[in-house]
Amino acid sequence: MHLAHLRLRDFRNYTRLDADFEPGFHLLLGRNAQGKTNILEALHLLATLRSFRGVGSAAMVRHGQPGWFVGGRAIGTSTHDVRIYWSSRERRLTLDQQPIKRLTDYLGTFRTVAFCTEDLALVKGAGRGRRRFLDFLLTQTVPGYLHLLQRYTRAVRARNALLKRKPIDEAALDSFTAEVIQLGNQLIAHRHDLMPALVPRIQAAHQRIASGGEELSVEYVPSVKNDFAADLECIRERERKYGTTIIGPHRDEIALLLHDRSAADYASEGQKRTIAIALKIAQAEHLTEIHGAPPVLLIDDVMGELDEHRRQGFLPLLEKCGTGRGQVFMTCTEENWPHNLSKVLQRWKIHNGTLQPC
Ligand SMILES: Nc1ncnc2c1ncn2[C@@H]1O[C@H](COP(=O)(O)OP(=O)(O)O)[C@@H](O)[C@H]1O
Ligand SMILES: [Mg+2]
Repeated sequence: MHLAHLRLRDFRNYTRLDADFEPGFHLLLGRNAQGKTNILEALHLLATLRSFRGVGSAAMVRHGQPGWFVGGRAIGTSTHDVRIYWSSRERRLTLDQQPIKRLTDYLGTFRTVAFCTEDLALVKGAGRGRRRFLDFLLTQTVPGYLHLLQRYTRAVRARNALLKRKPIDEAALDSFTAEVIQLGNQLIAHRHDLMPALVPRIQAAHQRIASGGEELSVEYVPSVKNDFAADLECIRERERKYGTTIIGPHRDEIALLLHDRSAADYASEGQKRTIAIALKIAQAEHLTEIHGAPPVLLIDDVMGELDEHRRQGFLPLLEKCGTGRGQVFMTCTEENWPHNLSKVLQRWKIHNGTLQPC
């Protein structure tokens, strides 16, 4: 899969950009604050409709402008034209000139996996980021998962609203409780099912990039311990006191343990970064396995932070994605990628919101 054309209008520091990209390995070179990460952000947006910086759409509008446009031509098994326009008054998403009403009709048209400094939060940050990691992967590999997740999220919200409103409408609460249990159990089952395929990949990637002898274990820890309905019954009074649904897939965790201790609490910064990269490599490999073609890799400022040994651990994935019809975009301030990487690097100079081959 690759992106053949990218078009930006009033996106971040780009007034207008039209660029054609071949498959292969693209190096985006430039000094700080020129717009390298902004290009990767736009590519990721085309794939996921979200910024990997975790900001809303308004932040991406070029200062002083009403809205932004990001469009592109994605080539996988077939070619698709994708266009996204956002302003505070209007949002438009089209696939091959047709408006998209449901996200599930769009996601998967273009697939990316981003490696960026924010990934460290996967190890250091709250459980939400790790759940999002699981959900991203399941959304992109299990038909119907996104729909299930959306319905579950709505049901939990409705249930929370009922728990807050006193006196509680018991009949309505029972009905939403049944829905939360039924949908939640399906989510838990999907998350369980993913683990046997995902965990060995995370561990293998970690082995390749960590210094020898570091042992990582990864475990899915659902917040429902036994039976969802029975567990809810046990915490009935607490739920009513706090006015919120305390257990369920929206509170699940992935435990990351280095030598049986919480990586968030005990691992060094370098070790945490290595674990975060291993999670992302596993994500890319899993998508490759399921779809038979690698996602487009977006690698932002990661190489500069890795020592030579750790960079080498990236090689198998980069080679797989950067050859054939795959595509990799990597940002650098200087040329510090592994030298044996690829014979055909395509270099681009990024300067003050412009992009030129060099
Ligand atoms: N909404 C925006 N409008 C205009 N410029 C922006 C906006 N958001 C970020 N920028 C500018 O983009 C530049 C940073 O781009 P970025 O891609 O992060 O740089 P880098 O090349 O270091 O990766 C900065 O000059 C910043 O001021
Ligand atoms: Mg940057």
